[in-house]
Amino acid sequence: MEKYVIRGGNPLKGEVTVSGAKNAAVAILSATVLAEGVCTIENVPDIRDVFTTLKILSELGAKVRYINKTTVEIDTTHLVTTTIPHELTCNMRASYYFWGCMLARYGHAKVSMPGGCDFGVRPIDQHKKGFEGLGAVVDIEEGMLDVHADHLIGNQIFFDKVSVGATMNVMLAAVRATGVTILENVAKEPHIVDLANFLNSMGANIMGAGTDVIKIHGVSEMHGTEYAIIPDQIEAGTYMVAAAATGGDVLVKNVIPKHMKPITAKLEAMGVEVEEFDEAIRISAPNKLTKIDIKTLPYPGFPTDMQPQMAVVACLAEGTSTITEGVWDNRFRYVYELQKMGADIKVDGKMAVIEGIDCFKAAPVKATDLRAGAAVVIAALCGDGETEVEDIYHIERGYEDFELKLSSLGADIRRIEVPDLQISAAI
Ligand code: EPU
Repeated sequence: MEKYVIRGGNPLKGEVTVSGAKNAAVAILSATVLAEGVCTIENVPDIRDVFTTLKILSELGAKVRYINKTTVEIDTTHLVTTTIPHELTCNMRASYYFWGCMLARYGHAKVSMPGGCDFGVRPIDQHKKGFEGLGAVVDIEEGMLDVHADHLIGNQIFFDKVSVGATMNVMLAAVRATGVTILENVAKEPHIVDLANFLNSMGANIMGAGTDVIKIHGVSEMHGTEYAIIPDQIEAGTYMVAAAATGGDVLVKNVIPKHMKPITAKLEAMGVEVEEFDEAIRISAPNKLTKIDIKTLPYPGFPTDMQPQMAVVACLAEGTSTITEGVWDNRFRYVYELQKMGADIKVDGKMAVIEGIDCFKAAPVKATDLRAGAAVVIAALCGDGETEVEDIYHIERGYEDFELKLSSLGADIRRIEVPDLQISAAI
């Protein structure tokens, strides 16, 4: 086990380069299953969810080879199974993309139900609705989802709820279905567009990704390709928020400024100075910030995956801020950790009311999930002493070299080994 030891008080200064997008990478790497061939994927983030995805691909029989730290070559010509056991899916939500990919290529997938961050109930009814709409049969038994079809046939599918995962999964299944599939009320996140672009580079025929309606003409064959993943919107946003919270001045490089608009708009409304370049954004916060009201929504709304980090800046702003969670049932578990550090936050259902404080106090805290972990680290960077953050394996699922990138910006952060607690049999 590892933890971070963070001494707060240093404003972040300098330049940081954002890695490839986690939520695009996990879908794109899984999607290599759709072709019998070799795909070379660039700008792959060096994070735990990527390693888990590559491990699953290896278990399926793919040949996986790193060309350098961020480029992976995957040969899916000879796969040996369509079953993925629990040990490989229990820590990662995105393992569900193998349902759609293997259904499309083999007409069958048996995959243990996915893990991932705990935000309350995480239903899969819209994935199921989409697969069934294409003619597949979906069974859930003993914790495994079994989906099979002799033949997938294009159809018109209306999602009852906007879902990133269901949009991507049904898109993955439909690319090789016979005829035309029209998906309505779909998610529009940048990673939806990235996955569609990747699939089109493999020979798929997808139009409309990034709008409310996606039209897919099924193709009978797909081929290997070379593709570079987009930069991570949420990693970029996390460094922007960390710069703002610490009163720093940071150039965040390798970003697509258009993807950052929902975040830059809120930071500017709080008094943060934001300067946009072609592929970079500079953030500086020389003055005390002011209160903000945020509601998280599907893209292009404010991203739920930036909600905990923004709560930290709101804690340090003057006045009373509100944050309303509009995507997940329960995404405020981290609030208790921030309260240990002196935050004045009251949660009522899906809304948090935040009263501004001057400074966070050092305290032993833990990462309750991936983005919550990033949030407590940012709070610790603004703390008045030495904070220890435990359970950082959550953070490492999604942030490449987090402590190294923060150190390069002047943060006093160390990653240290924690010996496992040995409990004597005599007790
Ligand atoms: N939902 C349903 N039925 C479904 C699927 C989803 O009701 O079949 C509901 C969910 O309960 C939720 C809402 O729809 O209320 C949105 O869920 P969505 O399916 O969009 O989420 P996801 O695909 O499971 C992805 C990201 C999350 C991110 C959400 C929302 C990946 C691997 N994960 O999850 O990312 O919070 O979209 O943008 O892409 C993170 O990166 O930290 C993270 C949690």
